[in-house]
Amino acid sequence: MPDDRPITLLGIESSCDDTSAAIVRRGIDGRAEILSNIVSGQTDLHAAYGGVVPEIAARAHAEKLDVVTEAALAEAACDLHDLNAVAVTAGPGLIGGVLSGVMFAKGLALGANLPLIGVNHLAGHALTPRLTDGLMFPYLMLIVSGGHCQFLLVEAADRFHRLGGTIDDAPGEAFDKTAKLLALPQPGGPEVEKLAGDGDPTRFRFPRPLLDRPGCDMSFSGLKTALLRARDACIADAGGAGLPATDRTDLCAGFQAAIADVLEEKSRRAVELYLNARPAEPSFAVAGGVAANGAIRRRLQDLSDRNGLRFVAPPLKLCTDNAAMIAWAGIEAALLGRYDDMTLSARPRWPLDTTQAAMLGSGKKGAKA
Ligand code: KG4
Ligand code: ZN
Repeated sequence: MPDDRPITLLGIESSCDDTSAAIVRRGIDGRAEILSNIVSGQTDLHAAYGGVVPEIAARAHAEKLDVVTEAALAEAACDLHDLNAVAVTAGPGLIGGVLSGVMFAKGLALGANLPLIGVNHLAGHALTPRLTDGLMFPYLMLIVSGGHCQFLLVEAADRFHRLGGTIDDAPGEAFDKTAKLLALPQPGGPEVEKLAGDGDPTRFRFPRPLLDRPGCDMSFSGLKTALLRARDACIADAGGAGLPATDRTDLCAGFQAAIADVLEEKSRRAVELYLNARPAEPSFAVAGGVAANGAIRRRLQDLSDRNGLRFVAPPLKLCTDNAAMIAWAGIEAALLGRYDDMTLSARPRWPLDTTQAAMLGSGKKGAKA
């Protein structure tokens, strides 16, 4: 696709528990415009089970895909003839949901005689700063959510170098588990952050795993055990009459400080590696639900300021799962001439950086990415 003409794509996302369709247009000046971005969540359907149930998710996607697509076209005041291609998440994610999306997109593309583009969901997240802020390659990216945590050197729309990531839990998962242990509502991140603001971050010294080891890998699974022990000690000290409110706020503050310390130090190392590549416009972008945390955001912003990097945190609704990022990644693929055909298949696992040995967290199956 030549880049001297506007391109308009429909994007479709159904890899976890959000069914989404969006229309994105790239103008001849290279600027992106989100004409619509409809997201239909499934939280209520899964609430009783304490997690996303793959079969329920897949069926709900199959029921909602045409509804969100019609809504996206209507809001954008477009019909299928205005589109240049259909982009769809082809992985990684829950196989049933991804399959629903891919089958739907194939039917639409075939029926409307449009090219089809299979998009890696993580590429969607990683390319979002170009959609929102027009970042130039190469930039450094931290994806930090409930199911994911990794540093990526984004070298081109189809070239991602993974600098490191979590070897077990993602930080959002740790926030959610902490909230559960402290009897706070889900999702836990915003609740823990709220209480942490009133607490003493120095009273409880939780572990900072892997800081003593070189590199950018992280580990967060040990934190919940440390927190559980500290919580039980507080309850025992209070004579077994529940957890005193000040202990709860101090536990939240101590926990958040541990996560922030790890993310800041590992980001510092990732920045160092990134700057070795001598980027023309050094930039550090962060995406994912945990990027909403003010304390963590401030640390990463300060780190960027100290190192002369532009810090970009896209608006939250574009950081979490949505189809606008899939449409945009599709546009980037179209500009590189990368199209798929009817043999496109759904991939539950699909690491972005295929040059490195697959590890947990690099396009993992199941948990939201
Ligand atoms: O990106 P997202 O919406 O979905 C996933 O891909 O997981 O991220 C959700 C995660 C949840 O674990 C939630 O607790 C966390 O992001 N989160 C936060 C905050 N807001 C959301 N974590 C820390 N502080 C916050 N303010
Ligand atoms: Zn995601």
